[in-house]
Amino acid sequence: MSTYHIPVMLKECLEGLDIKPNGIYVDVTFGGGGHTRAILEKLDGGMLYAFDQDADAKANAEEFQQHRSFTFVESNFRFLKRQLRFHGVKQVDGILADLGVSSHQLDEGSRGFSTRFDGELDMRMDQGAAVTAKHVVNEYEQKDLIHILSAYGEVKNAKTLAAAIIRARGMKTIHRNEQLREIALTCAPRGREMKYLAQLFQAIRIEVNDEMGALHEFLEQTPEVLAPGGRLVVMSYHSLEDRPVKNFINAGNIRGKQEKDFYGNIIRPLESITRKPIIAGEEELERNNRARSAKLRVAERVQSK
Ligand SMILES: C[S@@+](CC[C@H](N)C(=O)[O-])C[C@H]1O[C@@H](n2cnc3c(N)ncnc32)[C@H](O)[C@@H]1O
Repeated sequence: MSTYHIPVMLKECLEGLDIKPNGIYVDVTFGGGGHTRAILEKLDGGMLYAFDQDADAKANAEEFQQHRSFTFVESNFRFLKRQLRFHGVKQVDGILADLGVSSHQLDEGSRGFSTRFDGELDMRMDQGAAVTAKHVVNEYEQKDLIHILSAYGEVKNAKTLAAAIIRARGMKTIHRNEQLREIALTCAPRGREMKYLAQLFQAIRIEVNDEMGALHEFLEQTPEVLAPGGRLVVMSYHSLEDRPVKNFINAGNIRGKQEKDFYGNIIRPLESITRKPIIAGEEELERNNRARSAKLRVAERVQSK
């Protein structure tokens, strides 16, 4: 796997999945295949379906193609149920989602995700998708820019930054990371420039890939796709992602509003296995910086009554 991506909380994810050697599993975020490789090692007669919407991830999956238990699905995980049905699978024993971008996507300047390397403003995980970062930055109306900067990046002075972007693009199209960085640095609080850039890039990336929409649609399909007793293991890297995951597990819906059936029982198809989210241990944090913000939640599909 080289250094494509060091899998985060690998041991904890495997424990969360509680793998049965002959079970059916889905890794909806294949990336560099770190988690996939470890799951495959535990299977004997079982199957693993690995999803990713990124062509670079697909190329990575080549080395697994000979494995009897492995099938790569080049798709957005928002089509989980439909894709599994297409492969003749109705229910599975475990689903793993390691959300967000891979180190490869971040470190490959040409993909445009990085605050550190210059590149074309792209940020599409699915290189065939219509909307690029360049489109968002140059074409979105001011009010929409303000919305995504504050909602997805938690940028405090979103209005100021949106106005600076609008001014700059009025003079010249913004098509490279470097240009966007320069504009943002004129608005960044002193001493917190790197964090500010990270917030801006995160906001645009989430919009370009409709990450929240995909996550919501995915979560809503999991109860139907999981067999009773099946496990859902989700690792998120910021509170915007963690909130819907937590709500869905605890309340049975993204909003987090508990609903009751006729008899007053809470309608909740999943049951949390971990009372609090699991975070990486000291030793892993030293080895892998990416693990710093990771939160892992594990839930089980309740047995049908
Ligand atoms: C954090 S990385 C996963 C790394 C992987 N667990 C490993 O060990 O190498 C996330 C991956 O999920 C993919 N991804 C993110 N959102 C997706 C979505 N909605 N549908 C399909 N793939 C997605 C990204 O393209 C990226 O390759």
